[in-house]
Amino acid sequence: MHENHTPPAPPLFTWEFASDPYPAYAWLREHSPVHRTELPSGVEAWLVTRYADARQALADQRLSKNPVHHSESAHGKGKVGIPGERSANLMTHLLNIDPPDHTRLRRLVSKAFTPRRVAEFAPRVQELTDQLIDTILDKQGIEKGKADLIHEFAFPLPIYAICDMLGVPREDQDDFRDWAGMMIRHGGGPRGGVARSVKRMRTYLAELIHRKREDLGEDLISGLIRASDHGEHLTENEAAAMAFILLFAGFETTVNLIGNGTYALLRNPDQRERLQNALAEGDESLLATGIEELLRYDGPVELATWRFATQDLTLGGQRIAEGDPVLVVLAAADRDPERFADPDTLDLSRRDNQHLGYGHGIHYCLGAPLARLEGQAAIATLLRRLPDLSLAAEPEDLRWRGGLIMRGLRTLPVEFTPKS
Ligand code: HEM
Repeated sequence: MHENHTPPAPPLFTWEFASDPYPAYAWLREHSPVHRTELPSGVEAWLVTRYADARQALADQRLSKNPVHHSESAHGKGKVGIPGERSANLMTHLLNIDPPDHTRLRRLVSKAFTPRRVAEFAPRVQELTDQLIDTILDKQGIEKGKADLIHEFAFPLPIYAICDMLGVPREDQDDFRDWAGMMIRHGGGPRGGVARSVKRMRTYLAELIHRKREDLGEDLISGLIRASDHGEHLTENEAAAMAFILLFAGFETTVNLIGNGTYALLRNPDQRERLQNALAEGDESLLATGIEELLRYDGPVELATWRFATQDLTLGGQRIAEGDPVLVVLAAADRDPERFADPDTLDLSRRDNQHLGYGHGIHYCLGAPLARLEGQAAIATLLRRLPDLSLAAEPEDLRWRGGLIMRGLRTLPVEFTPKS
């Protein structure tokens, strides 16, 4: 290709980009598939946008998850990772470590966080979902027939669900909701409030783990304390970091699955009608493939979490130096026409849909079964109980959160026919 014919690189990380990053990602995939850029934080990083490169990078053991490998780690302290995790002593969690530590911790947590435990939790998720819809339907006065689905539905469901699963007593769960709200509202903004919320959560979890140790129950925290592998256990510090990462990784992601997913359905009425008809006939198969397609089409995790080159290497024909951060753009890979037919079309029955929305390789999402359960319950219940749900804002007036890793709406105003 002749250089003069290449259009200029589109601006990244602006407000316009946040509302629709897909055209910019199409440009990157085509013209600069492994692209060096300065992030809003000032950190320089490589963006990987093609599906084949992304999948390779996610499984490449030369790319470490440990921020000590960042070339700027000495003076760039605190610029990568989750705000507040350093000061709260929460660094040793799955998303920050490599084998063999990762293998050990993942094996231990997998003994407690089992698909069976998740499946047993299904009735509780359905109950929580119905309670939230009841509250929305029971509204009176000028709020009647209206809701903001992010604040009233997508946001509370995952936080109560994971708190319940961990064994956080109900009377303390509203504190978690407030701390999580602080993290989600200010994720891309001031770090002070977020760091304070992380510290409070950390203190609370440490105390809870301490108490549970004396009185083990059936909850996930008790499971984490009990889990052992060849005589090895999690230390209290590791258990606290694990509980924290389960909350952190499982919260905003699920909010965005419900938010982005519902929004995509409202914007694609033919697909929404298909799903609504299938559900009305008691056919749940389209719900399962549909949730996977919503993850591919506009997934919650726009960029996978940080990776750092532990040696000079070549990726997608591009040389990457030791110490450089590499960000795999899941949202771009999942729209790659080399991998997916009509990638910009939402097709709830899409076959051959090996999307990267949950990552790939050893860090593949541990919570995927829970996310699927919550996503399916939330979307199905919403469509069943608010059948004439419609968007109450112009798409161009909706605001997307500006954080780096996640992609999600700030608000999702909707209307529906209220109970008479
Ligand atoms: C890892 C996505 C929900 C817990 C990941 C990764 C992705 C992801 C992309 C890999 C990150 C990377 O390689 O850099 C999602 C999505 C979710 C979701 C899209 C919702 C729709 C959950 C839930 C939980 C959870 C509900 C737990 C309650 C985790 C954990 C990891 C992880 C612990 C780290 C695994 C490891 O490093 O071994 N998730 N996640 N996630 N997720 Fe999820």
